[in-house]
Amino acid sequence: MGVATGSRARYDEWADWYEHYITGDARDFTERTAEILARVLGPGAGPLLDLACGTGIYGQTISALGWTPFGVDLSIGQLRHACSRMPVAVAEASALPVRPRTLAAVTAVLCHTDIDDYAHTCQAASAALRTGGVFAHVGVHPCFVGAFADRTSPSEISITPGYWERERRFEGPWRGVRAKVGARHVPLGELLDTFVRAGLSIDRVIEAGEPTPDILAVRCIRTG
Ligand SMILES: C[S@@+](CC[C@H](N)C(=O)[O-])C[C@H]1O[C@@H](n2cnc3c(N)ncnc32)[C@H](O)[C@@H]1O
Repeated sequence: MGVATGSRARYDEWADWYEHYITGDARDFTERTAEILARVLGPGAGPLLDLACGTGIYGQTISALGWTPFGVDLSIGQLRHACSRMPVAVAEASALPVRPRTLAAVTAVLCHTDIDDYAHTCQAASAALRTGGVFAHVGVHPCFVGAFADRTSPSEISITPGYWERERRFEGPWRGVRAKVGARHVPLGELLDTFVRAGLSIDRVIEAGEPTPDILAVRCIRTG
């Protein structure tokens, strides 16, 4: 199993803080994310892998829709919180501990900005899905959230140069999680192309947030 120790160390250090933050100061954003996840995933049944599940905060949302979630993440610190919410395993997102074509669904929530190779991860997720299986991506909106987007004033987003820079960046106008762990960036076209190249068919796209969207959610189906 390949393990990106940088990501593991990064979230191990912040896991207790992260759990406190997403259920405290960032609670509104967590609740909005849960609502978008429920819309883009929809009801269903069968085994669902929550990729990079973190502290497993969306386990209840996923279960309430009828799915049976289990989570994987690189960070043992994050999984200590997650294990009270769903069964979990330590795993690298692009080397999933599941047999090919066995899953009914995969969710990837707020993680494409953390995973070093999201394209590879989507290929692994697609390979694990049965035909007709659902891949539900929920992430920050690539056009309006990133080191290049100053959201200090939510009503007036300033876009500065840097949209094409993909590598992890720590500088930027961030508070919260990104001020601690930085973020990678995947431009919009590349993100959508990543799903298609992984053999997934885009079924539904949701943008959310006022007055400028901060969340982009994409529902894909494995058709082959
Ligand atoms: C912002 S957190 C999101 C966690 C959770 N999905 C949520 O929405 O609260 C990103 C997570 O991605 C995990 N991660 C980063 N790179 C990973 C990789 N290559 N494989 C598995 N997990 C990874 C981190 O450990 C962290 O828990």
